[in-house]
Amino acid sequence: MEIGIKECNTGTMSDFGFLSIDELRTHKSEKWRGFPQDVLPLPVAEMDFQVAEPIRKVLLEMVSHSDLGYLGSIPEMGEAFKHFASSRFGWKPDPLQVRIAADVGVGIVETLRVITKPGDSILINSPVYPNFSAWSEETHLSVVDVPLTHTDIEIDGNNWHLNWDAIEKAYQSGIKVHLICNPHNPLGRVYTRAELLRFVELAVANNVIVISDEIHAPLTFSEQPFTPFLAIDDRARSVGITVTAASKGWNIAGLKCAIIVTEDEALFERLNAIAPATHYRASLLGAFATVAAFREGGPWLDALLLQLDKNRNLVQELISEKIPAAVAHIPHSSYLSWIDLSAYNLGDNPAAYLVENAKTAFVPGERFGKDFSQFIRLNFATSPEIIKEAFERVSAAIG
Ligand SMILES: Cc1ncc(COP(=O)(O)O)c(C=O)c1O
Repeated sequence: MEIGIKECNTGTMSDFGFLSIDELRTHKSEKWRGFPQDVLPLPVAEMDFQVAEPIRKVLLEMVSHSDLGYLGSIPEMGEAFKHFASSRFGWKPDPLQVRIAADVGVGIVETLRVITKPGDSILINSPVYPNFSAWSEETHLSVVDVPLTHTDIEIDGNNWHLNWDAIEKAYQSGIKVHLICNPHNPLGRVYTRAELLRFVELAVANNVIVISDEIHAPLTFSEQPFTPFLAIDDRARSVGITVTAASKGWNIAGLKCAIIVTEDEALFERLNAIAPATHYRASLLGAFATVAAFREGGPWLDALLLQLDKNRNLVQELISEKIPAAVAHIPHSSYLSWIDLSAYNLGDNPAAYLVENAKTAFVPGERFGKDFSQFIRLNFATSPEIIKEAFERVSAAIG
């Protein structure tokens, strides 16, 4: 397969520079090391694009000055996040209530450790990022899952619906935490303000803390505005903790830095029980790359979203054309497509079938919840050429 490199990715272009397949195959990250060379990898949520210029600049400067020690005080973080959140979402978080963790996983686990005790119950809504269950198990919590349900009926642009009756029952059953994924991985679903408000009301009434994983928020497309949980109102701030990062939006997961944000003095103080070392376990490079992303990464993000918008439309067209019996809805955020392959009868694990027979890798749906074994998750943050090649392979194997 021939895929050329177009250099330059300054963030001012409407068309993105892509890395060639040969260059991508030299990458040391999980996406490009996880499978043999003849398999096209579209699983793990990393992007195949050059890193934004402001981030490259700060990293190169720090490396060239041998500035690679431990992470210490970094008042720039809270200010940079406030700048990003206010310019993007109209939310002005308190910079002094922004804490650092090595990644979103660590941020959520360390938070859970101090706000729950082993045996407490936590609510999640599958299909959802598999680590939601893993983090709950790591902290010895009992998982209550109220899955979203899929119908042909579209409400507010969404075909996946929250099951409010079951959610209310779960809140009333004594859960301590509701871990929400907003925007939602793998559905690309952005919760509406009204839905979030309903979570707030339930949380206040039932003494539940809502942890909002907002790592995909920078990648929200314009048709569905993203509402930060803590921007809703004082009641939301009294029950909400946001954990987020620049790692997904700017593709810097390997640099290891995330933030835990509160907007309520009592909750902030409660989180003071988090081990102080949590801060120092994040990386110096990651923290300053994150500051650069939040401060100066807006133009690159805008260019990225233009490319991802083209790619999500391309994926929908290719599904209709090449695997018309599959069911998928256009995501309103991020670069993941959640595809139901039930109609193709590919056995217990369609993703395993496709690695074997189409030499293309996706994330198996079963990882996102027990009811979803017939789904695959496709990552379209790559060049249109690679996306087209993936669909050629899949359609030759099953179409
Ligand atoms: C919803 C969600 N949260 C967290 C993560 C992982 O974040 P981190 O690497 O910062 O732990 C991902 C990665 O895809 C994700 O989709």
